[in-house]
Amino acid sequence: MAVRNDGKVRIGLIGVGNIAQNAHIPAYLHQPDVELVAVCDLNKGRAEEVARKHNIAHVFTDYNEMVKLEDLDAVSVCTWNNAHAGATIAALEAGKDVLCEKPMAMTVAEAEAMRDAARRTGRLLMLGFVNRFRTSVGMIKELEAAGKFGEIYYAKATILRRRGTPLGWFTDPKKSGGGPVIDIGVHVIDITRYLMGNPEPVRVSAAVYSKFGDYKTKAVSRWEAFDKDNLVFGVEDLAGGIIHFANGASMVFDVSWAANTAETPLVSEIFGTKAGASLEPFVIYTEDEGYLVDEKPVVREVNIFDQEIRHFVDCVKTRQQPISSADDGVAVQKILNGIYASAAQGKEVTL
Ligand SMILES: NC(=O)c1ccc[n+]([C@@H]2O[C@H](COP(=O)([O-])OP(=O)(O)OC[C@H]3O[C@@H](n4cnc5c(N)ncnc54)[C@H](O)[C@@H]3O)[C@@H](O)[C@H]2O)c1
Repeated sequence: MAVRNDGKVRIGLIGVGNIAQNAHIPAYLHQPDVELVAVCDLNKGRAEEVARKHNIAHVFTDYNEMVKLEDLDAVSVCTWNNAHAGATIAALEAGKDVLCEKPMAMTVAEAEAMRDAARRTGRLLMLGFVNRFRTSVGMIKELEAAGKFGEIYYAKATILRRRGTPLGWFTDPKKSGGGPVIDIGVHVIDITRYLMGNPEPVRVSAAVYSKFGDYKTKAVSRWEAFDKDNLVFGVEDLAGGIIHFANGASMVFDVSWAANTAETPLVSEIFGTKAGASLEPFVIYTEDEGYLVDEKPVVREVNIFDQEIRHFVDCVKTRQQPISSADDGVAVQKILNGIYASAAQGKEVTL
Protein backbone atom coordinates (compact mmCIF):
# COMPACT_ATOMS: atom_id res chain seq x y z
CA MET A 1 0.00 0.00 0.00
CA ALA A 2 1.01 3.59 -0.35
CA VAL A 3 1.11 4.95 3.20
CA ARG A 4 -2.04 7.00 3.67
CA ASN A 5 -2.12 10.61 4.73
CA ASP A 6 -3.18 9.76 8.27
CA GLY A 7 -0.48 7.01 8.45
CA LYS A 8 -3.11 4.40 9.33
CA VAL A 9 -3.37 0.86 8.00
CA ARG A 10 -6.97 -0.27 7.32
CA ILE A 11 -7.50 -3.84 8.55
CA GLY A 12 -10.23 -6.42 7.99
CA LEU A 13 -10.73 -9.76 9.74
CA ILE A 14 -11.99 -12.91 8.01
CA GLY A 15 -13.37 -15.28 10.67
CA VAL A 16 -14.13 -13.64 14.00
CA GLY A 17 -14.20 -16.52 16.49
CA ASN A 18 -11.82 -17.14 19.38
CA ILE A 19 -8.43 -16.22 17.99
CA ALA A 20 -9.75 -13.12 16.22
CA GLN A 21 -11.65 -11.85 19.25
CA ASN A 22 -9.12 -12.80 21.92
CA ALA A 23 -5.79 -12.22 20.15
CA HIS A 24 -5.86 -10.40 16.79
CA ILE A 25 -8.45 -7.70 17.56
CA PRO A 26 -6.96 -6.74 20.97
CA ALA A 27 -3.47 -6.65 19.39
CA TYR A 28 -4.67 -4.43 16.52
CA LEU A 29 -6.40 -2.14 19.04
CA HIS A 30 -3.05 -1.72 20.81
CA GLN A 31 -1.53 -0.23 17.64
CA PRO A 32 -1.96 3.54 17.24
CA ASP A 33 -1.62 3.36 13.45
CA VAL A 34 -4.35 0.79 12.74
CA GLU A 35 -8.04 1.19 11.97
CA LEU A 36 -10.34 -1.85 11.97
CA VAL A 37 -12.68 -1.31 9.03
CA ALA A 38 -14.33 -4.66 8.20
CA VAL A 39 -15.23 -8.07 9.59
CA CYS A 40 -16.43 -11.19 7.80
CA ASP A 41 -17.84 -14.41 9.27
CA LEU A 42 -20.12 -17.17 8.02
CA ASN A 43 -22.05 -16.50 11.23
CA LYS A 44 -23.61 -13.10 10.51
CA GLY A 45 -24.74 -12.50 14.09
CA ARG A 46 -21.19 -13.08 15.35
CA ALA A 47 -19.74 -10.68 12.78
CA GLU A 48 -22.34 -8.02 13.62
CA GLU A 49 -21.72 -8.36 17.35
CA VAL A 50 -17.95 -7.93 16.91
CA ALA A 51 -18.50 -4.95 14.59
CA ARG A 52 -20.86 -3.29 17.09
CA LYS A 53 -18.50 -3.84 19.99
CA HIS A 54 -15.52 -2.29 18.20
CA ASN A 55 -17.31 0.24 16.04
CA ILE A 56 -16.27 -1.48 12.79
CA ALA A 57 -18.03 -0.04 9.74
CA HIS A 58 -18.41 -3.00 7.35
CA VAL A 59 -19.85 -6.48 7.97
CA PHE A 60 -19.71 -9.38 5.48
CA THR A 61 -20.53 -13.08 5.37
CA ASP A 62 -18.61 -13.69 2.10
CA TYR A 63 -14.89 -12.86 2.04
CA ASN A 64 -15.00 -12.47 -1.75
CA GLU A 65 -17.19 -9.41 -1.18
CA MET A 66 -15.15 -8.04 1.70
CA VAL A 67 -11.84 -8.03 -0.17
CA LYS A 68 -13.37 -5.78 -2.86
CA LEU A 69 -13.48 -2.91 -0.34
CA GLU A 70 -11.18 -0.14 -1.54
CA ASP A 71 -10.69 1.34 1.89
CA LEU A 72 -8.97 -1.85 3.09
CA ASP A 73 -5.20 -2.48 3.06
CA ALA A 74 -4.71 -5.82 4.76
CA VAL A 75 -6.55 -8.73 6.38
CA SER A 76 -6.13 -11.29 9.14
CA VAL A 77 -7.39 -14.74 8.11
CA CYS A 78 -8.73 -16.39 11.30
CA THR A 79 -11.18 -18.96 9.89
CA TRP A 80 -11.20 -22.71 10.33
CA ASN A 81 -8.23 -24.22 8.50
CA ASN A 82 -10.33 -25.26 5.48
CA ALA A 83 -10.86 -21.62 4.45
CA HIS A 84 -7.28 -20.36 4.92
CA ALA A 85 -6.31 -20.94 1.28
CA GLY A 86 -9.49 -19.56 -0.30
CA ALA A 87 -9.65 -16.46 1.88
CA THR A 88 -5.91 -15.74 1.56
CA ILE A 89 -5.83 -16.11 -2.22
CA ALA A 90 -8.98 -13.98 -2.64
CA ALA A 91 -7.46 -11.21 -0.51
CA LEU A 92 -4.07 -11.32 -2.29
CA GLU A 93 -5.74 -11.25 -5.71
CA ALA A 94 -7.73 -8.19 -4.59
CA GLY A 95 -4.46 -6.41 -3.73
CA LYS A 96 -4.55 -6.83 0.06
CA ASP A 97 -1.70 -8.00 2.30
CA VAL A 98 -2.49 -11.04 4.45
CA LEU A 99 -1.65 -12.36 7.89
CA CYS A 100 -2.87 -15.97 7.87
CA GLU A 101 -3.28 -17.96 11.07
CA LYS A 102 -1.49 -21.27 11.50
CA PRO A 103 -1.53 -23.86 10.00
CA MET A 104 -1.01 -22.28 6.59
CA ALA A 105 -3.48 -24.69 4.98
CA MET A 106 -4.71 -28.28 4.95
CA THR A 107 -2.55 -29.54 2.06
CA VAL A 108 0.79 -28.72 0.41
CA ALA A 109 -1.01 -27.91 -2.85
CA GLU A 110 -3.11 -25.27 -1.07
CA ALA A 111 -0.05 -23.83 0.68
CA GLU A 112 1.89 -23.60 -2.60
CA ALA A 113 -1.07 -21.92 -4.31
CA MET A 114 -1.12 -19.32 -1.52
CA ARG A 115 2.62 -18.69 -1.82
CA ASP A 116 2.33 -18.43 -5.61
CA ALA A 117 -0.55 -15.94 -5.28
CA ALA A 118 1.62 -13.74 -3.06
CA ARG A 119 4.49 -13.90 -5.57
CA ARG A 120 2.18 -13.21 -8.54
CA THR A 121 0.45 -10.23 -6.93
CA GLY A 122 3.46 -8.78 -5.12
CA ARG A 123 1.42 -8.63 -1.90
CA LEU A 124 2.72 -9.76 1.49
CA LEU A 125 1.74 -13.10 2.99
CA MET A 126 2.76 -13.54 6.62
CA LEU A 127 2.12 -16.72 8.61
CA GLY A 128 0.80 -16.59 12.18
CA PHE A 129 3.76 -18.47 13.65
CA VAL A 130 3.36 -16.46 16.83
CA ASN A 131 6.05 -18.19 18.88
CA ARG A 132 8.69 -16.62 16.65
CA PHE A 133 7.89 -13.40 18.53
CA ARG A 134 9.01 -14.64 21.96
CA THR A 135 11.84 -12.60 23.47
CA SER A 136 13.76 -15.82 24.22
CA VAL A 137 13.49 -16.90 20.57
CA GLY A 138 14.78 -13.51 19.40
CA MET A 139 17.72 -13.85 21.77
CA ILE A 140 18.61 -17.35 20.52
CA LYS A 141 18.46 -16.09 16.92
CA GLU A 142 20.85 -13.25 17.81
CA LEU A 143 23.27 -15.63 19.51
CA GLU A 144 22.99 -18.03 16.57
CA ALA A 145 23.87 -15.26 14.10
CA ALA A 146 26.93 -14.49 16.25
CA GLY A 147 28.06 -18.13 15.95
CA LYS A 148 27.36 -19.13 19.57
CA PHE A 149 25.97 -22.59 18.70
CA GLY A 150 28.30 -23.64 15.89
CA GLU A 151 26.66 -26.13 13.52
CA ILE A 152 23.11 -27.03 14.64
CA TYR A 153 22.69 -30.68 13.67
CA TYR A 154 19.92 -32.08 15.88
CA ALA A 155 16.78 -30.86 17.62
CA LYS A 156 13.83 -32.00 19.73
CA ALA A 157 10.30 -30.65 19.53
CA THR A 158 7.63 -31.65 22.05
CA ILE A 159 4.17 -30.50 23.02
CA LEU A 160 2.08 -33.01 24.96
CA ARG A 161 -1.40 -32.50 26.33
CA ARG A 162 -2.68 -35.19 28.69
CA ARG A 163 -6.40 -34.50 28.15
CA GLY A 164 -6.64 -31.53 25.80
CA THR A 165 -8.65 -32.53 22.75
CA PRO A 166 -10.67 -29.43 21.84
CA LEU A 167 -14.42 -29.53 21.30
CA GLY A 168 -15.59 -28.24 17.94
CA TRP A 169 -14.36 -28.10 14.36
CA PHE A 170 -10.76 -29.03 15.36
CA THR A 171 -11.61 -32.77 15.37
CA ASP A 172 -13.42 -32.69 12.01
CA PRO A 173 -10.80 -33.46 9.33
CA LYS A 174 -12.85 -31.68 6.66
CA LYS A 175 -12.55 -28.40 8.59
CA SER A 176 -9.16 -28.86 10.27
CA GLY A 177 -7.11 -31.16 8.02
CA GLY A 178 -5.81 -33.05 11.08
CA GLY A 179 -5.46 -33.21 14.85
CA PRO A 180 -2.64 -32.16 17.20
CA VAL A 181 -0.04 -32.42 14.43
CA ILE A 182 -1.67 -29.62 12.47
CA ASP A 183 -3.07 -27.72 15.49
CA ILE A 184 -0.22 -27.54 18.02
CA GLY A 185 2.54 -29.61 16.41
CA VAL A 186 2.72 -26.84 13.81
CA HIS A 187 3.84 -24.40 16.54
CA VAL A 188 6.63 -26.50 18.00
CA ILE A 189 7.84 -27.88 14.66
CA ASP A 190 7.94 -24.38 13.16
CA ILE A 191 9.72 -22.79 16.10
CA THR A 192 12.29 -25.58 16.29
CA ARG A 193 12.99 -25.40 12.55
CA TYR A 194 13.29 -21.60 12.92
CA LEU A 195 15.86 -22.00 15.71
CA MET A 196 17.71 -24.50 13.48
CA GLY A 197 18.05 -21.78 10.81
CA ASN A 198 15.04 -22.77 8.62
CA PRO A 199 16.61 -25.83 6.93
CA GLU A 200 14.72 -27.41 4.01
CA PRO A 201 12.84 -30.57 5.06
CA VAL A 202 13.52 -33.57 2.79
CA ARG A 203 12.24 -36.75 4.51
CA VAL A 204 9.85 -37.67 7.32
CA SER A 205 9.18 -40.89 9.20
CA ALA A 206 6.25 -40.81 11.63
CA ALA A 207 3.64 -42.78 13.55
CA VAL A 208 0.17 -41.41 14.26
CA TYR A 209 -2.44 -42.77 16.72
CA SER A 210 -6.14 -42.17 17.46
CA LYS A 211 -6.93 -43.78 20.81
CA PHE A 212 -9.07 -41.36 22.82
CA GLY A 213 -11.74 -39.81 20.57
CA ASP A 214 -14.41 -37.95 22.54
CA TYR A 215 -13.18 -38.98 26.00
CA LYS A 216 -15.14 -38.05 29.12
CA THR A 217 -12.53 -37.54 31.82
CA LYS A 218 -13.83 -36.11 35.10
CA ALA A 219 -12.64 -32.79 36.50
CA VAL A 220 -10.99 -31.69 33.26
CA SER A 221 -12.16 -28.69 31.28
CA ARG A 222 -11.66 -28.72 27.53
CA TRP A 223 -10.92 -25.97 25.02
CA GLU A 224 -14.20 -25.21 23.25
CA ALA A 225 -14.57 -23.62 19.83
CA PHE A 226 -17.45 -21.19 19.27
CA ASP A 227 -19.51 -23.81 17.41
CA LYS A 228 -19.92 -27.24 19.02
CA ASP A 229 -22.68 -28.74 16.90
CA ASN A 230 -22.14 -31.75 14.58
CA LEU A 231 -19.08 -33.00 16.48
CA VAL A 232 -16.90 -35.37 14.45
CA PHE A 233 -13.83 -37.15 15.89
CA GLY A 234 -11.89 -38.18 12.82
CA VAL A 235 -8.33 -37.10 13.56
CA GLU A 236 -5.29 -38.38 15.49
CA ASP A 237 -4.59 -37.64 19.16
CA LEU A 238 -0.84 -38.45 19.21
CA ALA A 239 2.05 -38.46 16.75
CA GLY A 240 5.78 -38.90 16.90
CA GLY A 241 8.64 -39.24 14.47
CA ILE A 242 11.73 -37.79 12.85
CA ILE A 243 12.18 -35.09 10.22
CA HIS A 244 15.36 -34.96 8.10
CA PHE A 245 16.66 -31.75 6.50
CA ALA A 246 18.72 -31.10 3.36
CA ASN A 247 21.74 -29.94 5.42
CA GLY A 248 21.89 -33.31 7.23
CA ALA A 249 20.28 -32.04 10.44
CA SER A 250 17.29 -33.82 11.96
CA MET A 251 14.46 -33.13 14.42
CA VAL A 252 12.58 -35.65 16.55
CA PHE A 253 9.11 -34.64 17.63
CA ASP A 254 6.14 -35.82 19.65
CA VAL A 255 2.78 -34.10 19.98
CA SER A 256 -0.52 -35.04 21.59
CA TRP A 257 -3.95 -33.75 22.49
CA ALA A 258 -4.58 -36.76 24.72
CA ALA A 259 -2.06 -39.25 26.14
CA ASN A 260 -1.25 -40.89 29.46
CA THR A 261 1.86 -38.84 30.14
CA ALA A 262 2.92 -35.68 31.92
CA GLU A 263 1.49 -32.48 30.49
CA THR A 264 4.41 -30.86 28.62
CA PRO A 265 4.27 -27.30 27.29
CA LEU A 266 6.02 -26.29 24.08
CA VAL A 267 9.57 -27.62 24.50
CA SER A 268 12.08 -26.93 21.77
CA GLU A 269 15.73 -27.89 22.00
CA ILE A 270 18.57 -27.34 19.54
CA PHE A 271 21.89 -29.16 19.66
CA GLY A 272 24.91 -27.32 18.21
CA THR A 273 28.59 -28.26 18.00
CA LYS A 274 29.56 -25.32 20.25
CA ALA A 275 26.43 -24.93 22.42
CA GLY A 276 22.79 -25.92 22.69
CA ALA A 277 19.62 -24.18 23.80
CA SER A 278 16.18 -25.06 25.07
CA LEU A 279 12.92 -23.18 25.40
CA GLU A 280 10.88 -23.92 28.55
CA PRO A 281 13.03 -23.99 30.51
CA PHE A 282 15.06 -21.31 28.73
CA VAL A 283 18.65 -22.52 29.07
CA ILE A 284 21.82 -22.20 26.98
CA TYR A 285 24.06 -25.26 27.39
CA THR A 286 27.63 -24.11 26.85
CA GLU A 287 31.18 -24.06 28.21
CA ASP A 288 33.23 -21.37 29.90
CA GLU A 289 37.01 -21.73 30.32
CA GLY A 290 36.63 -25.45 29.62
CA TYR A 291 33.88 -25.93 32.24
CA LEU A 292 30.30 -26.92 31.49
CA VAL A 293 27.94 -24.02 32.13
CA ASP A 294 24.14 -23.66 32.03
CA GLU A 295 23.24 -20.06 31.19
CA LYS A 296 19.74 -19.01 32.22
CA PRO A 297 19.10 -15.63 30.59
CA VAL A 298 16.58 -13.32 32.20
CA VAL A 299 14.05 -12.24 29.60
CA ARG A 300 11.07 -9.92 29.84
CA GLU A 301 7.74 -11.57 29.05
CA VAL A 302 5.94 -9.94 26.14
CA ASN A 303 2.51 -10.33 24.58
CA ILE A 304 3.53 -12.32 21.52
CA PHE A 305 0.33 -11.48 19.61
CA ASP A 306 1.06 -7.76 20.08
CA GLN A 307 4.56 -8.37 18.70
CA GLU A 308 3.26 -10.44 15.78
CA ILE A 309 0.62 -7.86 14.80
CA ARG A 310 3.12 -4.99 15.18
CA HIS A 311 5.51 -6.80 12.83
CA PHE A 312 2.70 -7.37 10.30
CA VAL A 313 1.68 -3.70 10.35
CA ASP A 314 5.32 -2.63 9.98
CA CYS A 315 5.75 -4.97 7.00
CA VAL A 316 2.58 -3.60 5.37
CA LYS A 317 3.89 -0.05 5.76
CA THR A 318 7.53 -0.63 4.80
CA ARG A 319 7.05 -3.55 2.34
CA GLN A 320 9.74 -5.60 4.13
CA GLN A 321 9.19 -9.38 4.01
CA PRO A 322 7.85 -10.81 7.31
CA ILE A 323 10.05 -13.07 9.46
CA SER A 324 7.41 -15.79 9.12
CA SER A 325 7.09 -16.00 5.37
CA ALA A 326 4.98 -17.94 2.89
CA ASP A 327 8.08 -20.05 2.10
CA ASP A 328 8.29 -21.03 5.78
CA GLY A 329 4.59 -21.87 5.69
CA VAL A 330 5.09 -24.18 2.71
CA ALA A 331 8.12 -25.89 4.29
CA VAL A 332 6.18 -26.56 7.50
CA GLN A 333 3.10 -27.71 5.55
CA LYS A 334 5.29 -30.26 3.75
CA ILE A 335 6.38 -31.61 7.13
CA LEU A 336 2.82 -31.76 8.55
CA ASN A 337 1.39 -33.55 5.54
CA GLY A 338 4.53 -35.72 5.32
CA ILE A 339 3.83 -36.92 8.88
CA TYR A 340 0.35 -38.08 7.85
CA ALA A 341 1.65 -39.62 4.61
CA SER A 342 4.43 -41.51 6.37
CA ALA A 343 2.04 -42.88 9.00
CA ALA A 344 -0.49 -43.94 6.36
CA GLN A 345 2.16 -45.67 4.23
CA GLY A 346 4.04 -47.17 7.15
CA LYS A 347 7.40 -45.95 5.85
CA GLU A 348 9.65 -42.93 5.51
CA VAL A 349 8.44 -40.49 2.84
CA THR A 350 10.39 -38.05 0.68
CA LEU A 351 8.96 -34.52 0.74
N1 LIG B 1 -1.89 -18.83 16.97
C1 LIG B 1 -2.49 -19.59 17.86
O1 LIG B 1 -1.95 -19.91 18.91
C2 LIG B 1 -3.89 -20.06 17.57
C3 LIG B 1 -4.74 -20.41 18.63
C4 LIG B 1 -6.04 -20.82 18.32
C5 LIG B 1 -6.47 -20.91 16.99
N2 LIG B 1 -5.59 -20.58 15.97
C6 LIG B 1 -6.03 -20.70 14.57
O2 LIG B 1 -7.01 -19.72 14.31
C7 LIG B 1 -7.98 -20.23 13.40
C8 LIG B 1 -9.37 -20.07 14.01
O3 LIG B 1 -9.44 -20.79 15.22
P1 LIG B 1 -10.49 -20.36 16.37
O4 LIG B 1 -10.07 -21.07 17.60
O5 LIG B 1 -10.61 -18.89 16.40
O6 LIG B 1 -11.83 -21.03 15.79
P2 LIG B 1 -13.33 -20.50 15.99
O7 LIG B 1 -14.21 -21.61 15.56
O8 LIG B 1 -13.49 -19.95 17.36
O9 LIG B 1 -13.45 -19.27 14.96
C9 LIG B 1 -13.38 -19.43 13.56
C10 LIG B 1 -14.40 -18.52 12.93
O10 LIG B 1 -14.24 -18.58 11.51
C11 LIG B 1 -15.52 -18.54 10.92
N3 LIG B 1 -15.40 -19.10 9.58
C12 LIG B 1 -15.14 -20.38 9.22
N4 LIG B 1 -15.08 -20.49 7.87
C13 LIG B 1 -15.31 -19.24 7.38
C14 LIG B 1 -15.38 -18.70 6.05
N5 LIG B 1 -15.22 -19.48 4.97
N6 LIG B 1 -15.64 -17.38 5.92
C15 LIG B 1 -15.83 -16.59 7.00
N7 LIG B 1 -15.78 -17.04 8.27
C16 LIG B 1 -15.51 -18.36 8.45
C17 LIG B 1 -16.39 -19.36 11.87
O11 LIG B 1 -17.76 -19.08 11.68
C18 LIG B 1 -15.85 -18.92 13.22
O12 LIG B 1 -16.56 -17.80 13.73
C19 LIG B 1 -7.58 -21.68 13.12
O13 LIG B 1 -6.89 -21.76 11.90
C20 LIG B 1 -6.67 -22.04 14.28
O14 LIG B 1 -5.70 -23.02 13.91
C21 LIG B 1 -4.34 -20.14 16.25
